[in-house]
Amino acid sequence: MNDMTVKTIYTPEPPRALQAKPPKITAQDVNVYYGDKHAIKGLSITIPDKAVSAFIGPSGCGKSTFLRCINRMNDTIAGCRVTGKITVDGYDIHDRDLDVVQLRARVGMVFQKPNPFPKSIFENVAYGPRIHGLSKDKTDLERIVVESLKKAGLFEEVKDRLAAPGTGLSGGQQQRLCIARAIAVNPEIILMDEPCSALDPIATARIEELIHELKQNYCIVIVTHSMQQAARVSDLTAFFHLGNLIEVGDTDVMFTSPQDKKTQDYITGRFG
Ligand SMILES: Nc1ncnc2c1ncn2[C@@H]1O[C@H](COP(=O)(O)OP(=O)(O)OP(=O)(O)O)[C@@H](O)[C@H]1O
Ligand SMILES: [Mg+2]
Repeated sequence: MNDMTVKTIYTPEPPRALQAKPPKITAQDVNVYYGDKHAIKGLSITIPDKAVSAFIGPSGCGKSTFLRCINRMNDTIAGCRVTGKITVDGYDIHDRDLDVVQLRARVGMVFQKPNPFPKSIFENVAYGPRIHGLSKDKTDLERIVVESLKKAGLFEEVKDRLAAPGTGLSGGQQQRLCIARAIAVNPEIILMDEPCSALDPIATARIEELIHELKQNYCIVIVTHSMQQAARVSDLTAFFHLGNLIEVGDTDVMFTSPQDKKTQDYITGRFG
């Protein structure tokens, strides 16, 4: 079969996650090219608000590439071209009038490797609100920093050393600091690209708990190589293969009755 003809299929039941929650992100016929390399092929998907959606699939299938489409981070990669339509709250993110800096504040991102700035814990979180002019004064900025650290489940551990360097924290704490930094600019969507892959099981469990709490208020999209993690944290799962979105469904249904053989092979560990 020609790759171009691959169409997404849905698990036997229409996803409950998409009925229960309003759509936050939609993609229609999205293609991404790196030069001649066709990395995402005619992808269409709807992602619900106030829920966790997991992207799974073998290495190189385009998970990070599609994630970067959602906050137009691919714009920063030379030779990368995106076609098709992506909306957030119904608005086309490629609209000429859209301010991409604002978009990236609304659509926060957390990466695989914790990447705090080489600054204090306080400054890591204060930086975004300051450049976006979100605080009225110093007291207000302090309030935003404390609230963001609390929401990221880090405040109790760092409240006595806010002036210490962020890079001096443990890996799991650094990742929660990066989540606090993303939260500080009032995002609506948080994209997480393998946020736990550099963390030990305890730090991973802490981030997973946090994801569970955060989904009450945010639309979360997580890329993960761990089937167990996808099963634990997500409401909706999307399986990617060779640049195609093969199958989408409620996570429990995807893991018990996938429709496509490739999905089945991947989730049962036969390839990937
Ligand atoms: N900056 C780039 N320049 C050229 N090709 C790229 C670039 N980034 C990704 N690709 C290619 O696009 C395809 C999709 O890559 P992507 O990083 O999105 O995959 P992935 O599913 O996130 O993989 P992994 O699980 O290993 O992180 C791959 O073939 C990759 O080699
Ligand atoms: Mg990736």
